[in-house]
Amino acid sequence: MTDYLVVGSGLFGSTFAYEAAKRGNHVEVIEKRDHVGGNIYTKEVEGIQVHEYGAHIFHTKMKDIWDYVHQFADFNNYVNSPIANYHGEIYNMPFNMNTFNKLWGVRTPAEAKAKIEEQKRDANIPDKPTNLEEQAISLVGPDLYEKLVKGYTEKQWGRKATDLPAFIIRRIPVRFIYDNNYFSDPYQGIPIGGYTQIIEKMLASDLIDVKTNTDFFDKKDEYLKSGKRIIFTGMIDQFFDYQLGALEYRSLKFDTEVKDVDNYQGNAVVNYTDAETPYTRVIEHKHFEFGKGNKHKTVITHEYPKTWHRGDEPYYPIDDKKNRSLYKKYAELAAKDVPNVFFGGRLGQYRYYNMDQAIMSALRLVKNEFGE
Ligand code: FDA
Repeated sequence: MTDYLVVGSGLFGSTFAYEAAKRGNHVEVIEKRDHVGGNIYTKEVEGIQVHEYGAHIFHTKMKDIWDYVHQFADFNNYVNSPIANYHGEIYNMPFNMNTFNKLWGVRTPAEAKAKIEEQKRDANIPDKPTNLEEQAISLVGPDLYEKLVKGYTEKQWGRKATDLPAFIIRRIPVRFIYDNNYFSDPYQGIPIGGYTQIIEKMLASDLIDVKTNTDFFDKKDEYLKSGKRIIFTGMIDQFFDYQLGALEYRSLKFDTEVKDVDNYQGNAVVNYTDAETPYTRVIEHKHFEFGKGNKHKTVITHEYPKTWHRGDEPYYPIDDKKNRSLYKKYAELAAKDVPNVFFGGRLGQYRYYNMDQAIMSALRLVKNEFGE
């Protein structure tokens, strides 16, 4: 049996800890926050499960992962259908026949396709778009771009669309059916009673010892000398004291409040797509569980995109050449200098993982680790 130290109690670390303990191994899990769960953590307020670190909708193409999470929770049949608010005009997302009908009055797929083609033609964009604005217009035309892409994207990245590289938007999904389901995965839902129970059940074994409010870097040398195999799900550049430079992120700020109304916006997710509104989304948490909770109150969260500075919560890795190449150098350093440490999860591997991918990646490590 091996002794493991898992740094970080997010979905990656907790899945690994659960599987390692199931095989009879001792696992110490340390977590710097005052709660387990990482970014999928949910907290009950007024009987409503509040997604503390942004809206989390479980969706996957992988039947085995869908079955896997059902060991830890029952899921409802929530379907993510966000709406967009552009200066008070409401549009359905993702772009589909409902959006096109509202925008142009078209009713059939043929009419919608013709309208988009006409828009693209009249926009006169060069064959090789040189920035994000040209790229987006070349994909969907100026109307959709102006109302539903431009402001939102500029807020997300904190830069003008004309200053952003074209490659950020490789494609914009366009659907010629009346269907507001945001994801195209066959399995989708929200755990009834929130996500935290999933992590708590994963970490419930007597072989797992969980310590919150415990930062790896407070005793890094001691942990490294402990002889334990380490699964590290914090930031890989911080592990190496930023010796090759700092990886970059986009951050977010969440403002959550309880409102004395039953139903504030009629939908779980409303995107604000104009450039002037400072937030990108308003989440109304009770709608993830079909209005559960206090009948006279609701909890909403305004989500603001934010430039990341060291010490801020690192939410989204910046997927560009410079950061990818720096990450690669850290990964090489890790393999050479600390072979007893595995770097996993979204921060350890510097990549955006959906929840199903985080679980899949942890299960892959389990296979390698236990030779299965
Ligand atoms: P995660 O960040 O959750 O866990 C890492 C843990 O390590 C944290 O708890 C952290 O505190 C801890 N830690 C870091 N450094 C440490 C240190 N030095 N010492 C001790 N502990 C340390 N996915 C999806 O499928 N559907 C969705 O709708 C969404 N929505 C979504 C919204 C937003 C705003 C974000 C940012 C992300 C999503 N996701 C998502 C992705 C989802 O959050 C992601 O897949 C998982 O949180 C990944 O789990 P990890 O364990 O990799 O990281």
